[in-house]
Amino acid sequence: MQFDKQINNQGAAALQKYIEKTMAKQEDVFKTIIAHAKEYGFVFQSSEIYDGLSAVYDYGQNGVELKNNIKRYWWEAMTMLHDNIVGIDSAIFMHPTIWKASGHVDAFNDPLIDNRDSKKRYRADVLIEDELAKFDDKINKEVAKAAKRFGEAFDEAQFRATNARVLENQKKRDELHERFAKAMNDNNLDELKQIILDYEIVDPISGTRNWTDVRQFNLMFKTEMGSTADGAMNVYLRPETAQGIFVNYLNVQKTGRMRLPFGIAQIGKAFRNEIVARQFIFRMREFEQMEMQFFVRPGEELKWFETWKQTRIKWHKALGLGDEKYRFHDHDKLAHYANAATDIEFQMPFGFKEVEGIHSRTNFDLSQHEKFSGKKIQYFDPELNESYVPYVIETSIGVDRMFLSVFCSCYEDQDLGNGDRRVVLHFPAPIAPVKCAVLPLVKKDGLPEKAREIQHRLRFDFTCAYDEKDSIGKRYRRQDAVGTPYCITVDHQTLEDNTVTLRHRDTMEQTRVNADDLEKILHDEVSLNSLLKKLV
Ligand code: GAP
Repeated sequence: MQFDKQINNQGAAALQKYIEKTMAKQEDVFKTIIAHAKEYGFVFQSSEIYDGLSAVYDYGQNGVELKNNIKRYWWEAMTMLHDNIVGIDSAIFMHPTIWKASGHVDAFNDPLIDNRDSKKRYRADVLIEDELAKFDDKINKEVAKAAKRFGEAFDEAQFRATNARVLENQKKRDELHERFAKAMNDNNLDELKQIILDYEIVDPISGTRNWTDVRQFNLMFKTEMGSTADGAMNVYLRPETAQGIFVNYLNVQKTGRMRLPFGIAQIGKAFRNEIVARQFIFRMREFEQMEMQFFVRPGEELKWFETWKQTRIKWHKALGLGDEKYRFHDHDKLAHYANAATDIEFQMPFGFKEVEGIHSRTNFDLSQHEKFSGKKIQYFDPELNESYVPYVIETSIGVDRMFLSVFCSCYEDQDLGNGDRRVVLHFPAPIAPVKCAVLPLVKKDGLPEKAREIQHRLRFDFTCAYDEKDSIGKRYRRQDAVGTPYCITVDHQTLEDNTVTLRHRDTMEQTRVNADDLEKILHDEVSLNSLLKKLV
């Protein structure tokens, strides 16, 4: 059926406007979320009083707590729930040959292009990807228009297969994608430039097509170690934590008497001189990774790859942010050393984006280190009575992207009716920065003293705030805005019968409980254990 013919022009224009408005609204929401992150001490621009440093951010008093809780959730899920996974903490500086062996010196590049008029630098591949996204947008708009028009009766698959405009745009998209993929694969920088010229891609700032040639740009930060008189050595800030694990494989295997399959986990900073840095903490120049390399017998890697895909998605979904917000993006084009790869994508306000990568990396890295170091890096398998270089499944997640996905999906500007609103962060209680706040109803009559007594008791078990300023309503709103799951209000009745009001953040419901029971009640709700138990 030719659905498109049934859409009248007036309706289509109105719908187009509606879609554009929705997209603009999503952008506004993201800006509001970023502003909230700053206003409530979660994330600050680095070096702000010196006008900031691009794509570098600092975490504030609440941000660091949320970030630490995310890291703890990952660390304990990896190391405590798996008998065969141990952690390490390797140095950021490593011998420069490591980066030669890993391929980062020669191949960790982005193709960059400059616009002579705006003097701005872009990633050539990102400019082309944006062009591809325009085709996707056109197609999606057609689909959305038809879906709205035909309601329940709409058959999306059929529409995509028959609609003339969709088919035309899909064809153009496929042609561009094929040309682009070939140019990237062949490392053909001239062709990348030619694509930019052929598709008349303009600089979003100057609006011109006055482009330089495309050049390769290595993303690693280089610095010097040792004084120049001694002969300084060029070293790199690590662009991933994984290599620290690979070069410690033998140390851990031998000292821990580890038997295959086993894993090594690590959390730490990584640095990349990203050319295009945008979307707040999504793409940073200094960021943090949580990586785990799982060493397996050759031939068993694809089975383990599937196992880790399921284990990792379960970890994400246990947070309760909404199962529909996750999807796998399996790679159809693989790096030469990988035989399977997927991304876990999360629905950010700017679309589905990669949060975690899971790769079956064969024995590439260990073999390279064997070759470059001249040391034998093998495992003697007592069951097979033979030695081999283990294969590796890698799970690699960015702490900051995880933080962003949690923060964005938990943010709500809630209409409470009667013109009343509140901004609330519905953090899963076990990772909330502050677990509870103790609030004396008034600043007199011995209530502050009683409230302090309770807070001083609870703070041994939970991050526990105390606040006595302003009306109780304002204080509740302040705690909602930082995502505190429980407020404990001390009033005059507390002095008589030792009961307090326990206010729940999400429902705003208040219950009267005995102050002596607080530890138990809170523990069941806010401890990390409650989350970890969902994983086993
Ligand atoms: N060892 C594999 C590796 O580093 P990757 O896909 O380059 O793989 C893994 O990075 C994860 O690190 C990504 O899924 C993302 O969450 C995070 N990440 C990568 N580059 C980042 C950046 N510039 N800013 C923030 N997070 C980043």
